[in-house]
Amino acid sequence: MSKEVVKLKNISKKFDMPGKEISVLKNVDLIINKGELISLTGPSGSGKSTLLHIIALLDKPTSGEVFFKNKSFSEAKESQKDLVRKKGISIIYQQNNLLSDFTALENVSIPLLNNGYSLKESIKKATKTLASVNLSNRANHFPSELSGGEQQRVAVARALITEPDIILADEPTGSLDRETSDEIFSLFLKLKTKKRAILYATHNRELSNRADYKLKILDGNIFIKNNE
Ligand SMILES: Nc1ncnc2c1ncn2[C@@H]1O[C@H](COP(=O)(O)OP(=O)(O)OP(=O)(O)O)[C@@H](O)[C@H]1O
Ligand SMILES: [Mg+2]
Repeated sequence: MSKEVVKLKNISKKFDMPGKEISVLKNVDLIINKGELISLTGPSGSGKSTLLHIIALLDKPTSGEVFFKNKSFSEAKESQKDLVRKKGISIIYQQNNLLSDFTALENVSIPLLNNGYSLKESIKKATKTLASVNLSNRANHFPSELSGGEQQRVAVARALITEPDIILADEPTGSLDRETSDEIFSLFLKLKTKKRAILYATHNRELSNRADYKLKILDGNIFIKNNE
């Protein structure tokens, strides 16, 4: 079986703004394989979030092709993309990750309910997944009753529960202290052994150095970067 999870072929992304055009990504090529833990760095505004959204099939490139598990999604219908977003790809945002009217346990269960699991099955698996991020004791808390790190761990649990092929994390530890970022990062390391791919955008040099390899976006181009 192919190890390839995502392939970007000649991706460009421009935003049309009144009176000017912003060229964010220029002819980007990239292959992500199972089991890889990859960091994504680059100055603010360089296009990290844009790239993650394109990979997640949430945004369309201006030109170029996105493949998920060897299938091109350039001409795909929304319903086909929806299916991949539900089962194959999870995205973790830096903030406002969780639904505020739902408890931690409910937030983690929702992706399974959306995938057609019964309430009972969803709750059972969500309980187990919350335990895997050490949050059993916060299951019935609402997001406003959780610390930033706890909220982020719920978001990680929610990203994991569908057992996706790739997890995209947009500065998942951006607002966390060192100890909590380390905790989130160890969760990523645990996942890596399960043959998933993880791509995380970060401004933190130390965390970025812990990836298998590092990507950097600069002036719309993507490079593989050596440790610094
Ligand atoms: N919907 C949009 N319309 C117009 N311009 C946009 C849009 N989304 C992003 N941009 C622009 O594209 C550029 C890249 O934005 P992006 O959010 O990808 O950067 P980033 O690398 O994630 O930055 P940060 O580190 O600050 O999160 C920015 O200059 C931004 O202003
Ligand atoms: Mg961003």
